[in-house]
Amino acid sequence: MERTRWYKDAFIYQIYPRSFCDSNGDGIGDLRGIISKLDYLKELGITCVWLSPCYKSPNDDNGYDISNYRDIMDEFGTLEDWDEMVKGMHDRGIKLVMDLVSNHTSDEHFWFQEAKKSRDNPYHDYYIWREGKGKNKKKVPNNWTSRFGGTAWEYNEATDEFYLHLFTRKQPDLNWDNPKVRKEIQDIVKYWLDRGCDGFRCDVITYISKEEGLPNGKFNPFACGDEHFTHGPHIHEYLHELNVKVLSNYDCMTVGEGPGVNVDTGLLYTDESRRELDTVFSFEHVEVDTIMQALPKKFNLAKLKRIFEKYQHGLRGKGWNSLFFENHDQPRSLPRFTGDYGDKHDEAAKMLAMALYMMQGTPYVYEGQELGMTNYPFKSLDEFEDVLVRYVIDVIDKIKVIPWAKKVALKVFQKRARDHGRTPMQWDDSENAGFTVGKPWLAVNPNYKEINAKKEMADENSVWHFYKKLIAYRLGNPIIINGNFRQYYPSSKDVFCYEREYEGKKLFVIANFKNKYVPFRMPKEFVGKQGKVVLQNYADDPGLCDRILKPYEAVVYEL
Ligand code: GLC
Ligand code: CA
Repeated sequence: MERTRWYKDAFIYQIYPRSFCDSNGDGIGDLRGIISKLDYLKELGITCVWLSPCYKSPNDDNGYDISNYRDIMDEFGTLEDWDEMVKGMHDRGIKLVMDLVSNHTSDEHFWFQEAKKSRDNPYHDYYIWREGKGKNKKKVPNNWTSRFGGTAWEYNEATDEFYLHLFTRKQPDLNWDNPKVRKEIQDIVKYWLDRGCDGFRCDVITYISKEEGLPNGKFNPFACGDEHFTHGPHIHEYLHELNVKVLSNYDCMTVGEGPGVNVDTGLLYTDESRRELDTVFSFEHVEVDTIMQALPKKFNLAKLKRIFEKYQHGLRGKGWNSLFFENHDQPRSLPRFTGDYGDKHDEAAKMLAMALYMMQGTPYVYEGQELGMTNYPFKSLDEFEDVLVRYVIDVIDKIKVIPWAKKVALKVFQKRARDHGRTPMQWDDSENAGFTVGKPWLAVNPNYKEINAKKEMADENSVWHFYKKLIAYRLGNPIIINGNFRQYYPSSKDVFCYEREYEGKKLFVIANFKNKYVPFRMPKEFVGKQGKVVLQNYADDPGLCDRILKPYEAVVYEL
């Protein structure tokens, strides 16, 4: 099978199924809801869908805790629905990338149900067990913490051991050092590829190989142990094995979710000659406005640009990059990267799209981003649904930290909570934004009367139409796919400005990230040249000369 590497010229749309479209009024999005929106996706012009997990799951972490990899979650539908969905996508020229969650399973998975029974159960070694420390062996085996807070170990009575869970206690980590586990994962991957899916987004894939002996991590108030399981000792070997044994037999793609990935490690994972993953999501650029990846801090455009530039140069010609601002774990990019946009919502949303998607790498748009959906105005901790928030509150309650801890937590989550990206898709201005006729599992953003698909599809100047235009412009464009990257004014805190060049043709991008007028000096090599405007968010254009950029003004020239 020849691998065509179609992902280099794709536009991928991420669907978080729970929040996309509910077909039966139970308040939860489902596969038939997705089926009903396939024409919408086709019209937008995307070429591939990444579907967050839809497998059987008790939903401790909204499907990222799988109890059966070969079946569909009850709330989402059936395997027959899945078959119909994938056929409907393929009929419309849309590919499907599934979410492969293989660092851990649900504790309700058959393997774990068996594994916890006794130390000599055949599935025991599918997971990571250690005896407790201390006289009565009741102290946790090491200081590693769950990514959601608290210890990463849970005691199991029947075997008098602890098991490792880097996420919730209902997400026990699989033991990838066991060849049987690796074989199981290979079989699961093969099962879905044979059934018609076109690739995988590999959940927290950088965590699957743990350092032998599981040594204590250095102190970190938010997450301990990272250095002992991020890019662990056998990671490249295991991914190579999966690639050679299964993936390379299909014309599919993989994108690894890569917490801890930088340019160097990104290259190791995606260098084509190494045959591991095709692409990665690195997170450096969405960590610019955080302290230790957890607490919010002020956004600094110059820093963001530095990171973009590093990846544009670093992966070029060897590995392959991904372009994204949003996903189901991130707050919305509005107002995150634009600040208070006031009455300039549409300009700001379009500007962000131009700034991001003219770079090299596979582009991702997250459901609702094409409408300019925004963060939700959360007022109290009870409004959050996310297990991460609940976990943190639990830890605060348990260790009875200072009374204002909850106030601080609220402030942090108002900015950073994953729920911002998970509020229901805003389809129209009817009740619940047309997402459901029942009670939505998570509140709909109150701005749905202004920001919704129906309204935007009827308005030629909307954010939605802008995305459609940008997607069509980008697909098949050799400058965007292959061109080199050169940044201008890298230290400007207001404007992102870069050029792409390929076989004598250029794209030139100017994006004002601020809600204010900003003077702009045209780089010498462009002054007086004739550039064709291919994308812009204001109707007029003074051309390639010194100028005053309007609030959030952005323009893409071809020359
Ligand atoms: C990934 C997912 C996130 C999930 C976690 C554990 O980071 O994107 O939603 O909570 O893995 O599976
Ligand atoms: Ca439903």
